[in-house]
Amino acid sequence: MINLVQKFYKNKKVLILGHTGFKGSWLTAVMSDFGAKVYGISNGIVSNPSNYEVSKINSLSKNYYIDIRNFKKFKNIFKKINPDVVFHLAAQSLVRKSYDDPYETWSTNILGTLNFLEILKTYSEKKKIISVIITSDKCYKNVNKKQGYKEDEILGGFEPYGASKASVEILFHSYYQSFFKIKKNIFTATARAGNVIGGGDWSKDRILPDLIKTHINKKILKVRNPDSTRPWQHVLDPVFGYAYLGFNLNKKPNLINGQSFNFGPYKQKNYSVNRLLLEINKHIPKLKWKIKILKNSFHEASLLNLNAKKTYKNLKWSNKLNFKQSVLLTANWYNIYLKSKNMKNFTFSQIQNYKKNLK
Ligand SMILES: NC(=O)c1ccc[n+]([C@@H]2O[C@H](COP(=O)([O-])OP(=O)(O)OC[C@H]3O[C@@H](n4cnc5c(N)ncnc54)[C@H](O)[C@@H]3O)[C@@H](O)[C@H]2O)c1
Repeated sequence: MINLVQKFYKNKKVLILGHTGFKGSWLTAVMSDFGAKVYGISNGIVSNPSNYEVSKINSLSKNYYIDIRNFKKFKNIFKKINPDVVFHLAAQSLVRKSYDDPYETWSTNILGTLNFLEILKTYSEKKKIISVIITSDKCYKNVNKKQGYKEDEILGGFEPYGASKASVEILFHSYYQSFFKIKKNIFTATARAGNVIGGGDWSKDRILPDLIKTHINKKILKVRNPDSTRPWQHVLDPVFGYAYLGFNLNKKPNLINGQSFNFGPYKQKNYSVNRLLLEINKHIPKLKWKIKILKNSFHEASLLNLNAKKTYKNLKWSNKLNFKQSVLLTANWYNIYLKSKNMKNFTFSQIQNYKKNLK
């Protein structure tokens, strides 16, 4: 199937909203590897260093730097690109920042998506557009359920980030039911992924980036929620999953259009933060951390499980890397970075090796 997926994207104009970010930079590399003509829209480079820069992702796409909340600019660039496929990953993506700046979080995640949906709604009927909108596992109302959340479960979101992502889901489904369902040219779906690890993430307040940064600065990381479990997955798993979702929107629109899909470990194997730290320490020696439950620490769900059966059934997609393999790939990337800093070849070699898992 991977050959068919690659063939579908080859020479297609693929626009990635949020292409400078952690996942967006990997997706840009994958789409470029598939032979797509890649375009990116972002509002800047999210961290220093960033995968976008150290893996030279900027050379793989035509880049536009604008704020997607600016409808006029966004629409003009969108029309100029006239894409065949769009992946929407542009967001304020951090839970802690959503407490510090809820307005920025809500306005980026909601208004940015609203502008995108509005552009699709008014787009020429002559042009077919496939689009995948990335939300999050945090869109579900978290009731500390042990079995994984299924796609038809209640949406919620405690913290501003999760609530904004739940609202993006509601917004999307409303646009689908009201407008896209009767349009013959717009095919869209949402993707809800769990926590992602992988080389090149330098975001603040994410456990592995924080650990690597404290390691580089010869400090000790304070770990706030050691027992929280997450459906950790390597970035290449959801990124290839999104590519399969776009492919299936084209291949079997009747089944996929207007739907939401979970992307996470298929057999619901979740691990704690503590276990993640112990596992990565096997591959990057001398990492240092201590458990420190901070007073007034912000609320984060302690248990999050996803049920990815619908994704497997409809897209024939499931994650290819287990927990240990995901951590190993992540550690390998940072180990090379600690020596070299130029990650382009290594990032592409990880993509090539990953593809060997696919039939
Ligand atoms: N990383 C994870 O563990 C994870 C888990 C679940 C869901 N997600 C979701 O996946 C998507 C990508 O996550 P990530 O980790 O790559 O995020 P990131 O923070 O690394 O990147 C965000 C991207 O969005 C762009 N962006 C932000 N605000 C913008 C604006 N106003 N206008 C234009 N561009 C803007 C940034 O420039 C950047 O390119 C997000 O929607 C996030 O919520 C991430």
